[in-house]
Amino acid sequence: MPESSAWWRNAVVYEVYVRSFADGDGDGVGDLPGITARLDHIADVGADAVWLTPFYRSPMADAGYDVADHRDVDPLFGTLADFDSLLARAHDLGLRVIIDLVPNHTSVRHRWFQEALAARPGSAARARYVFRDGRDGGALPPTDWRSVFGGPAWQRVPDGQWYLHLFAPEQPDLDWSHPEVTAEFHEILRFWLDRGVDGFRFDVAHGMAKDLAEPLRDLGPDQVHHSIVGEGWEGRHPFWDRDDVHTLLRGFREVVDTYTPPRATVAESWAALDRRALYTRPGELHQAFNFDFLKAAWNPAALRATIDRSLALPRATGAAPTWVLSNHDVVRHASRLLLPPGTTPDAWLLSAGTAPSLGPDAVRRRARTAALLLLALPGAVYLYQGEELGLPEVAELPDGVLQDPVRHRSGGARKGRDGCRVPLPWNGEGPSYGFGAGAPWLPQPAAFAALSAEAQRGDPDSTLNLYRRATRLRRAVPADSELEWNEQSDPRVLDFGVGPLRCVVNVSADEVPVQPGRRPLLSSAPLPAAAHVLPPDTAVWYANALGGSAMHAGRM
Ligand code: NOJ
Repeated sequence: MPESSAWWRNAVVYEVYVRSFADGDGDGVGDLPGITARLDHIADVGADAVWLTPFYRSPMADAGYDVADHRDVDPLFGTLADFDSLLARAHDLGLRVIIDLVPNHTSVRHRWFQEALAARPGSAARARYVFRDGRDGGALPPTDWRSVFGGPAWQRVPDGQWYLHLFAPEQPDLDWSHPEVTAEFHEILRFWLDRGVDGFRFDVAHGMAKDLAEPLRDLGPDQVHHSIVGEGWEGRHPFWDRDDVHTLLRGFREVVDTYTPPRATVAESWAALDRRALYTRPGELHQAFNFDFLKAAWNPAALRATIDRSLALPRATGAAPTWVLSNHDVVRHASRLLLPPGTTPDAWLLSAGTAPSLGPDAVRRRARTAALLLLALPGAVYLYQGEELGLPEVAELPDGVLQDPVRHRSGGARKGRDGCRVPLPWNGEGPSYGFGAGAPWLPQPAAFAALSAEAQRGDPDSTLNLYRRATRLRRAVPADSELEWNEQSDPRVLDFGVGPLRCVVNVSADEVPVQPGRRPLLSSAPLPAAAHVLPPDTAVWYANALGGSAMHAGRM
C-alpha cells in the first residue's frame, strides 16, 4: 500500500486508558476482558482504531508506564489470552489496535534493573541504565537535572551510586547507546507484531537519546525541566529532543516495515512544533501527536494560527496532520477550554475546581463545540475515552484518593492527573455506574449518572450522538483533503471548508453574523431560525458550497 493511502492518515483513534475503561472481574480496576466486552461502544462511536495504554506486567508506580515485563500482561489486567481475544474481537468489529511501547525507561522491577542493582558499580549489568557516581564524594547527585514529576532526576542506591530517572524513581532510564537495549526493544516490537497488533504509540519518543559524555553537563537554575525545550537548544539539550534520537526512531521503523499490511507508528514527542516535524520524516514515525493544538488558547486567532502551523509542518515531510484535545495526562478539555486566561489547569485543580467553578451547561456546550471543530479537521484525530460523553475533569477528588505520583513527587504543588482518569460511567446505576461490580479505583461524581453511555444512547441530542453523527459525516471527507479558510467571515468565528464539509465555529461569547451555509448538517447547539447568526460557543457543519457534496444530515 502506498503510504499516501494508509489508513492512519485520516483515522479516528480512540484512546482506551486501560485501568478506567471497564472492569470485567469486579476488582475495581479496568481490564482487558472488560474492554473486549465494550469494544462495540468504540466501534459505534465511529472510531477506526483503538490505542491501548500499557497493560504489561508492572508494579504500577506510574499506572503501568513502569514496565517490568514487556512480553506479558499484568494479572491486574488479564492474560495474554485475554489480549488475543481483545485483538480478535476488535478486528471482527473492523477496529485496528495500537499498543503503547515504553522505551525510555523500565520499572525498577524489570529483570535488567534487578541485575544492575545486584551488580557492582561499573559492571556490564549497570551499563544498560545510566548509573554514575555522585559529586562531592558521592553525596550529591551527578547533575542538577530535575525529573518531570518533580524532584531530582537521580536516585541513590545502597552502594552509593546514583541512577537517572526522568520520571519517577521507580522508572530508571535506559541507556539507548547500549546495543542490547536496541536489540531487546526490536524483539519486543516483533513479539507484538507477530501477535497481530496494528501499530504502536511510542511513549516519550523525544527523551530516549541522551548526551552521556563525561563530564555530564548541569542545566543551571533556569533549566527547562518540562520536556518541551524549544528554542535555543535545537537538538542539543542533554536529554530532550536530541538530534540523535532520530537514529533510534529509524531503527523502530525498519522493524515495523518488515510486516504487511503496513503498521502505524505514532510518537509522543513533546517537542516544539517546528522540531516535531522531524519525527515524521520519511523513514521515521508516521505521525506525532499535535500537542500545540491541545495547548492552544480558546480564541479564534490562536486557534487559527495553530491550525495553520499544524497543517503546514507535517506537509513538509509528507505526514498527515494529527489532532488531539485530551488524553490521560491532561485536564479534560470540556473543563480546560473554559478556564479564563491566566488560570492554569494545575492552579484550577489545586482549587478543587472552585476557582472558577464551571457550570455543567457551560461544560457541555464547550465540549460539543470543541468536538465539531476537532472532527472537522483534516488528518488523524485522537479521542480520549469519555470525551464522547462530554465528561468533565473530576477536579474535586479528595486528597486521600489521589494516586498519581506527580502529586507526591511535586510535594503537593501539582494535584496530578487522576481527575481525567476516573472510571467511565456505563449506566446510571449501582456503586460504579456500570464500570464493574466492585468499587472503582477512583470515586466517580454523582454527575456521571446522567452522562453515562446508556443515558446518552437513546437521547438524540446527547453528546454521544453528536460524536456518532460527526464521525459518520467525516467518513465522506476524502483523505488528504485540504483545509480552506473562508476569508469573508467574521474574525470571531473559525470558518473553513474541508472537501464536502464546511465548519463554522463561533469562538466568542457574542452572537455573530455568519454567511449561512448551503445546508446545516449538524450543530453543537440548537440553531436560531435566523440562519445568518450563530449563537455564542456554537459550531455548525454545513454541506460545503465549494466542495460539492455527498453529505446528508440524516439521523443515525
Ligand atoms: C507519557 C505518558 O503518557 C504518561 O502517562 C507517563 O507518566 C509518562 N509518559 C512516563 O512514561
